[in-house]
Amino acid sequence: MKTFAFDVYGTLINTAGVTAALKTHVGDKAPLFTQRWRDKQLEYSFRRGLMKNYGGFPQCIRNSLDYVCAELKEDLPEEIRLSLMQSYRVLPSFEDADFGLAELKKHSARMFAFSNGMPEDIENLLYHAGILDFFEDIISVDEIRSFKPDPLVYQHFLTRTNARAEDSWLVSSNPFDVIGAINFGMHAAWIKRSPTMVFDPWEQQPDRTLSSLTELIDILD
Ligand code: 2OP
Repeated sequence: MKTFAFDVYGTLINTAGVTAALKTHVGDKAPLFTQRWRDKQLEYSFRRGLMKNYGGFPQCIRNSLDYVCAELKEDLPEEIRLSLMQSYRVLPSFEDADFGLAELKKHSARMFAFSNGMPEDIENLLYHAGILDFFEDIISVDEIRSFKPDPLVYQHFLTRTNARAEDSWLVSSNPFDVIGAINFGMHAAWIKRSPTMVFDPWEQQPDRTLSSLTELIDILD
């Protein structure tokens, strides 16, 4: 039986969902702001993981929000920053998530959400997106206080789910996560969410490259 570890931000949940809220405050800068905020929050998680200075993903999200405000010279008031942090807790799912997960659920596969996010934040996101019930459990890196792609977080996933690496597949649109899982010894499917996305030219390459979660059932063959 295969075990699937679904990355959340960027894979199931669309972080660009925050652009609409940003537009009312920063206008045409909103798409750039959204992308820089996402890129910077991930950079901060890598740095904190390497520094062994874990403070939780919300700290990375908030620190990166403050960074991008300074970088784009948009000194948003505190109450706006707090409302933007709240909008990060109710982001939309991608349109292929519901059908793709439902199809996989019909087969005998174990399905887990697996994220840098705090357990309660991931539960909130998946509940609001209407896809929480597809998952047997939520595995958060917070339980061992490190971040992806630390090998320890993938080991934690296997320990928590009592799964074997050889039977486990990470599903992610984030190349760093795909590489991290393969580096650890799991299989991994890269969800290439746009034709212009480039995968890092590293020795670890995805076992499967899919354009949508609806293609996941092909892995079960
Ligand atoms: C995750 O959800 C941040 O996409 C990354 O773990």
